[in-house]
Amino acid sequence: MNRTAWVSALALSAGCGSVAPATAARQSHSNSIALSPDGAWLYVVHPDADAVSVLDIATRSIVHDVALGPAGPPVVNPTTSRFDPAVAPRALALDRAGAKLYVTGEKSGELYLVDAQQGALLESAAICSEPVGVLAASDDAHVFVACSGDDEVIEVDATSLAITARVVTPRKPWALSWAADGTTLLVSHLLGAGVSALSTTPLSLTTTWPIASRGPESDPTEPHGLVRGLYDVALRPGTSELWVPHLLLGTDTPQPALVFNNTVFPTLTVLDGRAGTELTRLSVQAHPGDGGAFGDVVSGPRSIAFSDDGKYAFVVDTDSEDLLVVDATQEIEATIVRPLPGHMPEGVVFAGGEVFVQERNTEDVVMFKVSESASGVSLSPDGAAFKSLESDPMPATLRLGQELFYSADSDDVPITQNHWMACASCHIEGRSDAVTWLFSEGPRDTPSNAGGTLGTGFLFRTADRSQVQDYWQTIDLEQGGEFQPVAQKPLLDALAAFVNTALPFAEPPSTDESHMIRGAALKALRAQGQMVFARVGCVTCHNGPALTDSGDGNEALDLAGPIVSSVTMGGVLLHDIGTCVTSGPWPDVAHVDIAGHPRPGCAFDTPALRGLVDSAPYLHDGSAVTLDDVIPIMLRATPIAGQASPTLGAAPTLGAADETALVEYLRSL
Ligand code: HEC
Ligand code: HEC
Repeated sequence: MNRTAWVSALALSAGCGSVAPATAARQSHSNSIALSPDGAWLYVVHPDADAVSVLDIATRSIVHDVALGPAGPPVVNPTTSRFDPAVAPRALALDRAGAKLYVTGEKSGELYLVDAQQGALLESAAICSEPVGVLAASDDAHVFVACSGDDEVIEVDATSLAITARVVTPRKPWALSWAADGTTLLVSHLLGAGVSALSTTPLSLTTTWPIASRGPESDPTEPHGLVRGLYDVALRPGTSELWVPHLLLGTDTPQPALVFNNTVFPTLTVLDGRAGTELTRLSVQAHPGDGGAFGDVVSGPRSIAFSDDGKYAFVVDTDSEDLLVVDATQEIEATIVRPLPGHMPEGVVFAGGEVFVQERNTEDVVMFKVSESASGVSLSPDGAAFKSLESDPMPATLRLGQELFYSADSDDVPITQNHWMACASCHIEGRSDAVTWLFSEGPRDTPSNAGGTLGTGFLFRTADRSQVQDYWQTIDLEQGGEFQPVAQKPLLDALAAFVNTALPFAEPPSTDESHMIRGAALKALRAQGQMVFARVGCVTCHNGPALTDSGDGNEALDLAGPIVSSVTMGGVLLHDIGTCVTSGPWPDVAHVDIAGHPRPGCAFDTPALRGLVDSAPYLHDGSAVTLDDVIPIMLRATPIAGQASPTLGAAPTLGAADETALVEYLRSL
């Protein structure tokens, strides 16, 4: 088929019968970018600018920049130096007519209703904690939202935005998609579990289809590991196949063998959308001739779109900054667009023989013409990338730091090799991947970086580092990169500035653990828990604004200080509270910090307590699955009231009501 034939065939298969401009198919899954039904306008979210914009595709110009925040675009706070968008719009959904646009504010917890033609904000409503995925019902009467912070999916009235139904789901519901029947709603779970299927009449959880981990391989560079980062789920047109882009994290490999090419694997799992069974799994081929799926290594598969005939899948990779085209029938890489012109691509749509890619860091959109010939499919740039936002409120240094944090683009910066891994491969969304890695110091659950590290004292579970700039060592040891602390100081400073001042704090859930208590009653319960926290002596170690004593007595965070167990001038304060792993194949061991100072194996830095709901499992080795599991361990660590130096004392006991309140307080941090 020549190129013209291909394009018109696509237009025909879209059902409009005419050639260009081809119509966009009805929005089938949540996305950060969407096309109007007539294919004329493009809608784009700007998480870092608290705006959504309307672009005219014909002229490639901005028609409307719609500010969603009450105070306009975010600014750097002069006192804290923090850059905290108030809304963080993450996903949008158009109704069938293309008249109404629904936008989720991950940070604000609100749903926004925008007049899609006029670009006017019509309404907004507080709905839940950290809403992300959003999709309109087929009759346009309701809108569904994935509340990632509440572990709930809600149904909202399309006009009043009032909540009409809710359902509890497994952890971190993220992207939404319609199944082949058009009424079953599918939701991916960002940190594992797989994909849930929900009935919408009425809203209820039907089942959760697990996506299974793949066990250790004798060759650790073969794709394997735990399933995380399920950012999208999409139905392949003309089939009932569900395609789920995600990561496999090879946590079985211990340091020092734990390096970039055996740590994280980009994966597409294809599920049968009726039975939920796994049909196939595509990933990188570790060695030439493996017969694997992708000849090129990509990193951070994020969003997926299909050609209208379902023949090709277009997968945008946030971290390696490229667009992978997969022949969906033959289940192999068809071609790759690398590099993309900008940074941090997050959204992709296909319409009328064109692919549109939204790039978050550079706030632009780039278009590619898709053509097919005897030698295969090819994508050619359709003009230069064009601006999707009038002016960027995020300072350039923070943009650079954001780019570096998410980058596995080794052609651009030497942060990894062969486009393999980024900080964000483990710190998913700047937070945790909910796995425990076998570091040379011992087992280490990935901590969340939400809110940054300022005011949290030393870094690492055993105070091995004191500043984010020290992470050149992670880049060089784990990520396979080549960073020099002196030569690359400006890059490291930008990375540190991003982590410390621009990674948002996590929002507390809007409901309690049982999903029964909200509003004032929840507030009262959390206040009671705060009193319990102080009364039983948690504050002995978890004190100050970040609820940690890390760095107390050592304001300069001098790593050379002696290891001490009570606050001592110039000392490095660590606590042995009985959580050390002393047996088994991978125990905690004595080691040295980044500068060679000795660290014991069993004494730990008190972690800051924030964003806790989001950072399960807990403790340095991830051995406590829930906060309820942490309580008895911490009660044992709590000193008898009045005792100056925290040592293992007689554990206070808590009544059930106080324990519930304490957990709710921790969940609110
Ligand atoms: C292999 C997964 C992985 C990668 C890649 C990774 N981290 Fe981490 N990160 C971890 C783990 C695990 C820890 C805990 C280590 C410890 O406590 O000993 C950690 C700890 C941290 C901490 C300390 C948090 C605290 O409160 O002590 C910061 C900050 C951090 N990482 C930032 C980064 C940055 C920046 C990058 C990229 C340059 C990065 N990480 C890459 C897994 C990873
Ligand atoms: C003696 C100092 C000390 C006291 C008292 C203390 N903690 Fe901790 N807490 C720690 C240390 C050290 C860790 C890290 C242990 C580890 O990772 O193995 C920790 C870990 C935690 C964690 C897990 C955080 C994470 O991200 O993994 C929670 C939650 C917590 N403490 C809550 C409490 C509560 C609630 C109390 C009071 C009942 C309390 N702590 C009392 C020192 C203390």
